[in-house]
Amino acid sequence: MTTPNKPITLARLLAKKRKQEKITCLTAYDASFGRILTECGVDMLLIGDSLGMVMQGHDSTVPVTLNHIIYHAQMVRRGAPGAWLIADMPFMTTTTVESTLATAKALLQEAGVQMVKLEGGQAVLPMVRALVEQGVPVCGHLGLLPQHALRSGYQRAGKTPEDAARLLDEAVALESAGASLIVLECVLPDVAQVISQRLTIPTIGIGSGAGTDGQVLVLHDILGLSSYAPSFAPQFLIEGRSIKEAVLAYVEAVKTGVFPSAHCDIG
Ligand code: KIV
Repeated sequence: MTTPNKPITLARLLAKKRKQEKITCLTAYDASFGRILTECGVDMLLIGDSLGMVMQGHDSTVPVTLNHIIYHAQMVRRGAPGAWLIADMPFMTTTTVESTLATAKALLQEAGVQMVKLEGGQAVLPMVRALVEQGVPVCGHLGLLPQHALRSGYQRAGKTPEDAARLLDEAVALESAGASLIVLECVLPDVAQVISQRLTIPTIGIGSGAGTDGQVLVLHDILGLSSYAPSFAPQFLIEGRSIKEAVLAYVEAVKTGVFPSAHCDIG
């Protein structure tokens, strides 16, 4: 069993990037898994709106509300009192600066998370600036945007030179606006690597290859509990392993760079 990590801070995240130590993240939705993931040394826990799919049985993240995220984040907080928690800002809660600030207020005060994550680039820059001005740590989210999937589908991002350039511009703009972290979802690996090298803040990849500063996956995917798991999310709970052993194997694989390069089908 690894010893739990030193609690994450923004300074520690930056230091990890500087020292090229891979950052580990998994989604968590309840107290038991919050405790287990922390005991296994996962650096950050994301209360993702993926809970709409893996916990609630919806076919997208769109039905997830602020109250749902608060409910799950409160449970995770109880199980993982010292963990760095990131909460997703749900669908349509970031359309104005006012709604964004009110949502973040609830997530920090009622749910006890330290960081909020919002999807999008150019369109959310004013919201990111407003959050940062109020002292709220922000995680951006570029590439495949699940809250936009009804319109855009589940497409890999960065496939054309134009799209790759747009992603890089948006990542730089998010950093300039004050974001402290950026999730890159299903971004072409070469593009994700260029973005990661260009930014001072860490990038956390999902289905975006090995060149990001850390990795995140949906917990239910690596435990084989999802009805559908994307090909870039291998099952770590293989026969004979306990849940803790599976999570420890994920942490070890990310830290050593075995994942994603050895498992990842990023086709
Ligand atoms: O909701 C979620 O779990 C996420 C991850 C897929 C990054 O946003």
